[in-house]
Amino acid sequence: MNKYQVAIIGTNIGAKHYEDFQKIKDRFNVHTLCGLTREAIDNILSKDTETKVSLNFDDVLKVKDIDIIDICLPPHLHFSACKKAMEAGKHVICEKPLVSSLKEVDELEKISKETGKIIFPVFQYRYGLGFSKLKALVKSGLAGKPLVASLETHWNRDKDYYSKHWRGTWEGEQGGAILSHSIHIHDLVSMILGPVSNVFAKLTTRVNDIEVEDCAALSIQMENGSLVTSSVTLGAANDTSRLRFCFEGLTAESGASPDKPYSPADDEWYFLPRSPVTQAQIDEVLSKVEEPQSWYAGMFDEIANKLDGSTSDEVTLLDARKSLEFVTAVYDSSRQNKNIKLQIDKDDPLYHSWLPK
Ligand SMILES: NC(=O)c1ccc[n+]([C@@H]2O[C@H](COP(=O)([O-])OP(=O)(O)OC[C@H]3O[C@@H](n4cnc5c(N)ncnc54)[C@H](O)[C@@H]3O)[C@@H](O)[C@H]2O)c1
Repeated sequence: MNKYQVAIIGTNIGAKHYEDFQKIKDRFNVHTLCGLTREAIDNILSKDTETKVSLNFDDVLKVKDIDIIDICLPPHLHFSACKKAMEAGKHVICEKPLVSSLKEVDELEKISKETGKIIFPVFQYRYGLGFSKLKALVKSGLAGKPLVASLETHWNRDKDYYSKHWRGTWEGEQGGAILSHSIHIHDLVSMILGPVSNVFAKLTTRVNDIEVEDCAALSIQMENGSLVTSSVTLGAANDTSRLRFCFEGLTAESGASPDKPYSPADDEWYFLPRSPVTQAQIDEVLSKVEEPQSWYAGMFDEIANKLDGSTSDEVTLLDARKSLEFVTAVYDSSRQNKNIKLQIDKDDPLYHSWLPK
């Protein structure tokens, strides 16, 4: 097992990355933490740390010992940062949303192939015991045919949240609740039910005085024929993420705990048998599920597995591409007020950007 040297770039969500790297110290060392101010970095690092401090991204890229650049910058900086990092010979972890168009994803894929460096997009919501249980039940065949799913991303974001200059704007954030908030839950659904076939989306801005959407109602059909409804708002009284899947053989429901809105995979999940499937059969499958590392630590663990050449379950560039293709289709549907069939081809103008003209 190798130990990888990481540089984290960005000190807000970057602090959470730092915290979770500490949980798997046998696999990663945070070599450098890079931000815009010394004060922000000092708030994260303890006094006795060996982690180095940098205020200059370009300098970090020159450090030979660093294997991975972990990009925790605002969305509009992701593409250029990923490109620079790979061209400097580094693997990349990059926060969601990976980039701002399908064209940019494809350009990054090309650079990744040319440089031999891997991009690991961030979807940390995938990792946790509850979700491992759901995946095991699907894999065992007990869940059977998927029928419908319903999703809620009901969070609370106010003026304070939008006081950061890049948030709430097309230019800085590149999108609203579809791109920044419900992107996670939609990724989870695709993991369980497979690719999206088509989507009808209603988007609106009703909560905050911002350019981008903060409420959505989506009607989605998956390629396997199952139907999904997704309700999104940033004007809920608290933060709740809820998922409910009805399969032929069982119904699976996340606990929607108010203390776990950002880690539904870690939540307590309920699995209810539907005849002829029995509780005993469900319990038998669940008894064999091992507790994984969760959240960012779970995701980082799988990245180390991939880099070690072991069996791995990392988030791939293709996963991020599918997620952004879905985002593109949602914006297209909302603007045209019509159902949009995926995929989005290269000759579609939205391939280059989903931003409004
Ligand atoms: N996966 C998740 O659950 C999750 C949660 C929150 C944010 N995010 C994503 O993480 C990204 C960052 O969001 P945030 O809320 O932390 O943003 P933020 O604006 O609060 O923080 C961004 C950080 O980047 C730093 N920075 C900006 N330019 C820099 C430069 N040139 N060199 C070095 N550092 C620089 C800033 O100092 C700041 O620390 C966004 O893409 C956001 O969507 C993901």
